[in-house]
Amino acid sequence: MHQDFFPPTIVALTGAGISKESGIDTFRDSDGLWKRVNLEEVATIEAWHRDKKKVLDFYNDTRRQFRAAHIEPNAAHRALARLEKEYGGEVVIVTQNIDPLHEQAGSRNVLHMHGRDGEIRCMRCGHVLESDVDLTPRSICPGCQAVGELRPNIVWFGEMPQHMDEIHAALERCGLFLAIGTSGEVYPAAGFVLEVRRHRARAHTVELNLEPTDNRDLFHEHIYGPATQVVPPYVERVLRHGWR
Ligand code: APR
Repeated sequence: MHQDFFPPTIVALTGAGISKESGIDTFRDSDGLWKRVNLEEVATIEAWHRDKKKVLDFYNDTRRQFRAAHIEPNAAHRALARLEKEYGGEVVIVTQNIDPLHEQAGSRNVLHMHGRDGEIRCMRCGHVLESDVDLTPRSICPGCQAVGELRPNIVWFGEMPQHMDEIHAALERCGLFLAIGTSGEVYPAAGFVLEVRRHRARAHTVELNLEPTDNRDLFHEHIYGPATQVVPPYVERVLRHGWR
């Protein structure tokens, strides 16, 4: 009943494709990160136990790349920030990206399900803190003084994504679900579109991506092109006319 009065929640799931035009590589495109780097060697808990220095060096480098002067939010990040500001209801960004570009564009309601660049965590005591310094296998946890237990607070393959309770709750009240710049190859994010449709038969789902993904048939609407070109006009359309 309330839905007639309160605009439904909009959830935007974003992936590496939204940051591509800001200068950050995706993972699975022909020039993607996982085409150059073996993810088993840097993005799993086994890799961490096998060779901490290799894993830490990889994320130290990633952090430096994100800090490069030319990396800044693009028109697609800014359009989602505008949506949050101007839409009369709730907008939740669920991002698989660890970069800070949504926040830098002005979005406030952002859930980083795969963690955030610039945060570290102690494997021993669970202490999480912001840090911009390089980690080494000899780094000391300021919480418990353990040596060599600090790691980037980033979700590796096989680990539980973060904020899942909040994400499931947002998907439950979602009336418009957008998947932007994500290949839909990694779960649980790839299953969110079905979760929304299961909860709300009337929810509308849209894939905005450079090209059709293997999940395309799960969405009601498809808009293909670079994020900077397709997201701003789509946001404009939603703000002016809604999504039906
Ligand atoms: N605009 C829109 N979409 C784009 C653009 C662009 N300019 N460039 C590429 N894309 C699309 C690609 O076509 C592809 O479908 O973005 C998608 C990127 O897919 P992936 O590289 O698989 O990235 P993502 O879906 O975010 O990966 C999910 O995998 O390795 C893990 O943890 C990592 O969070 C990441 C997760």
